[in-house]
Amino acid sequence: MAEKKYTWHKIADHISELGFADNNIAVTELAGKKICIGKFNESIFAFAYKCPHAGGVLAEGYIDALGNVVCPLHRYKYDMKNGRNVSGEGYFLKNWPVEIREDGVYAGMEAGSGIWNIFR
Ligand code: FES
Repeated sequence: MAEKKYTWHKIADHISELGFADNNIAVTELAGKKICIGKFNESIFAFAYKCPHAGGVLAEGYIDALGNVVCPLHRYKYDMKNGRNVSGEGYFLKNWPVEIREDGVYAGMEAGSGIWNIFR
């Protein structure tokens, strides 16, 4: 299988700039789109701003003891690492790889992904 190719976008000069709220979730932008960054066990994860179920704002949810983000609207849970809907409703939470580098925090978008996919 071909390895995934990513285009890396800087989302902050430093992790401290992301401005995590008390629920360990920060809101930032990736290529002009709002996304969430979740912090769990010293790692950070990037995922969609809104819940794929009915658009609940995930930044207003919380992270449970296993590292899942829980939507504030109907409490569906998603694994921040891979977007799996671990509470079993069959949705998928879009997520992006994140890297903390010397000069900042980067999130990777898969080449050929993004809003333009819809027109292909
Ligand atoms: S909108 Fe998130 S669980 Fe329904």
